[in-house]
Amino acid sequence: MLGLGYGERAGAVITKGRTLMRARTTPSAGALYPFELLVAFRGATTYELYEYEVAGCCLRQIGAIEQGVLAGLLALPEAPAPQPDAVVALVGRPWTSMRKYGRRGYLYTHLDGAHAATNITMAAESAGFRPVTYLRFDRDTAAEVLGLTGLCREPQALITLTATPTADPVESSAVANPFAVPIWRHGDGTRREEPGTAEQEAWHSVRSISTFHRQDDTPRRYGSSRTVAAIPQAPAAAPAAHGAPGTPGGSVTAAIRLAGADGFRSDGHRAAFAHLALTRASAKGFLPTSLGEEAFGHVLAELRQETGTDSADGPRAGLRVLVRSVEGIAPGSYAYTPDRHVLYPLHGDGGTEEAVVASCMNQDVVRSAALLLVLHAPMGPLLGTRGRQALAELHHHAASAAQRLCLAAAGQSVGITCLGGFDTDLVSRLVGLDGHEEVIYVLACGRPDETAVKWDRAPIAYSHGLSPALHS
Ligand SMILES: Cc1cc2nc3c(=O)[nH]c(=O)nc-3n(C[C@H](O)[C@H](O)[C@H](O)COP(=O)(O)O)c2cc1C
Repeated sequence: MLGLGYGERAGAVITKGRTLMRARTTPSAGALYPFELLVAFRGATTYELYEYEVAGCCLRQIGAIEQGVLAGLLALPEAPAPQPDAVVALVGRPWTSMRKYGRRGYLYTHLDGAHAATNITMAAESAGFRPVTYLRFDRDTAAEVLGLTGLCREPQALITLTATPTADPVESSAVANPFAVPIWRHGDGTRREEPGTAEQEAWHSVRSISTFHRQDDTPRRYGSSRTVAAIPQAPAAAPAAHGAPGTPGGSVTAAIRLAGADGFRSDGHRAAFAHLALTRASAKGFLPTSLGEEAFGHVLAELRQETGTDSADGPRAGLRVLVRSVEGIAPGSYAYTPDRHVLYPLHGDGGTEEAVVASCMNQDVVRSAALLLVLHAPMGPLLGTRGRQALAELHHHAASAAQRLCLAAAGQSVGITCLGGFDTDLVSRLVGLDGHEEVIYVLACGRPDETAVKWDRAPIAYSHGLSPALHS
């Protein structure tokens, strides 16, 4: 399950310094994977704590946690009530991303970690477990319980796994990741790398936005929820310069119903999830041809799926779609609502190629994208009313949505690339966001161009607004 959720897969990616590394099942900004995974397995009286090493697919035992301590952290009823069979801890190490991307790397740490956490929950579901993702826990206490105090690591998500009576281990192993063959190691004494001065400075520089540095007491709301926000009623369209897609005068426009509303599930079948997890990859460029409306509808339909969480009442990003070249849908900006699986025409004409490339920090990868998916939220007001916990939750759920989209795109042979390198003002203008709305995350979709070369993993980062040309 770990190997499929966050393991190595076929192929290689180029990383910092142009070295090659084995590709992994989840995406990460600059292929830096700024997080670690710990897993606690329930024993007779304690949970045995292991560190999961993705390279080599190893589990190394690093300690044990009293069952009552873990139950206390998660506010679970104590034994003899049934305890989860395992708890996966997704632990961010912001410095890994911040040393390349500066403070923006802290947000990438949240996004990258949430991609992996989501994929693990999907792998767990397909292996017959009932996962619940916890985001509302005391991160400081969690760091202490997991033996991370003083190491500049932030526990971002805890996932409890409970086997369902129907779980069939034989069948799950039949769809395991052939690139990640598990090896168990017991207490070989290897210690975690200690943070140096630069890492400690980076850690302190995020004090004002990190939930780790100020604990939050938002009550939990358990439930099953979607990863993007629904729109309660049809929005009024902005007057459109060329008559499409908005209607003159800003009147309410007819919704476009998308394909796939009833029942496409990328993870409904064990083998299906395994196949999608192992074939997912970021598109390096797009062909200048249209995307079929049906495939597009099926990709978005994945956002109708729900996931078990402790923050079911938390904020979710809204989704705008900048259609550039989709069969049967006029170019322009649209608002998507997952409950009705429809697009509402809003504004503009899809933007020029130059405007789209500029909005993504001059990254050529988006030049011929058939569409951009833009996750957005009223960041300032949310931070005011809900505090910094809102920042952690929004980014988690936004990346959860993105991971689902990546898998669904793999299932439809649609190319997709997550983009952390964007200019929030330029993207906002393209999709017609106003007021306090800020862009959190962008994804580009289209027909993949297998011959394209990507530059975001070069040593100089696009998110600093610098192109390779400026540094050559
Ligand atoms: C948070 C995040 C931000 C990313 N930003 C960009 C980006 O700005 N430009 C880009 O071309 N790729 C971007 N990527 C994609 C990564 O480059 C890609 O995931 C990584 O190189 C690993 O390759 P793979 O996804 O094919 O496994 C991003 C991925 C994530 C998760």
